Amino acid sequence: MLEIGGIKLKNPVVLAPMAGVCNPAFRLIAKDFGAGLVCAEMVSDKGILHENEKSLKMLYVDEREKPLSLQIFGGERESLVAAAKYVDKNTNADIIDINMGCPVPKITKCDAGARWLLDPDKIYEMVAATVDAVQKPVTVKMRVGWDEDHIFAVQNAQAVERAGGAAVAVHGRTRVQMYEGRANWDIIKQVKDSVSIPVIGNGDIETPYDAKHALETYGVDGVMIGRGALGNPWMLYRTVKFLETGEIPEEPTPREKIDICMLHMDRLIDLKGEYVAVREMRKHAAWYLKGLPKTGSVRNEVNTKTTREEMSKLLYDYIEEVEATPADKVS
Ligand SMILES: Cc1cc2nc3c(=O)[nH]c(=O)nc-3n(C[C@H](O)[C@H](O)[C@H](O)COP(=O)(O)O)c2cc1C
Repeated sequence: MLEIGGIKLKNPVVLAPMAGVCNPAFRLIAKDFGAGLVCAEMVSDKGILHENEKSLKMLYVDEREKPLSLQIFGGERESLVAAAKYVDKNTNADIIDINMGCPVPKITKCDAGARWLLDPDKIYEMVAATVDAVQKPVTVKMRVGWDEDHIFAVQNAQAVERAGGAAVAVHGRTRVQMYEGRANWDIIKQVKDSVSIPVIGNGDIETPYDAKHALETYGVDGVMIGRGALGNPWMLYRTVKFLETGEIPEEPTPREKIDICMLHMDRLIDLKGEYVAVREMRKHAAWYLKGLPKTGSVRNEVNTKTTREEMSKLLYDYIEEVEATPADKVS
């Protein structure tokens, strides 16, 4: 059983932190669909320390989401430690995670995100100071390295372990790769073989088979799923069931997908109000529609909707059309 700093997870399937996606509305759905751990979207250390309203709202954790890992990012030890202390005292998150993977220039030019990966000693100092300052377990999410010439995944993970970090999640790409190419799971295995804290492997897990393969072939303690779960929380459920029973539940019907899309939207409306939620929901609706038949025009039309009612009508009109089409005409 995967255990992170005394927090026991009921299975090794972890929802990846995703900015603009992993708020309580989606995290709760991931939890409903069985994820053993859900990770929140990254929050700026400076945003927390300046008590920026948006940042503080991002720290909200619904009891039903637990166990939950809350991720912070920043480029300076002092402010990261202070933000971690704030999260430790003022939130009911179970785990504090530090982002060392974000590749975006706006973040790395402040020495945050993937920039940490260039200096294992700095990682050690920062993680040790954070672990000293808080009660909750501290973990790190990292990429394998900065670029092909600077792959310090093993040294960096060992630095996290020496500093008292409770686990590492490793995305098998470098910062320079962004999201291109394929994740390098051989490096993730090298990390697994070189530390004794839990290692959660991440990158390109698209099917339940990929998850099982990752656990069995690379020996990781957990699998973290990001893009595979966008508009597709069934990916989490089907993976959990496959790992438990060896059988994969059926894919959802189009109506089931839209019902969950609407549940997602309603939770987002509760959280952010209709104006913001419906606009945010456009990208999610397009993801929920992915893989369904005849979605050409509906996927464009979601981008024009501004109210819950309009969005609901569009999606359910589409479903009625699909359900009225004989199976042999669906393409
Ligand atoms: C929309 C989006 C937002 C992301 N935001 C974060 C983030 O806030 N923190 C983080 O550590 N990684 C973030 N990531 C990276 C993912 O957690 C994950 O490492 C990456 O997508 C690879 O996993 P996958 O192949 O399963 O998607 C983000 C990825 C996506 C697609």
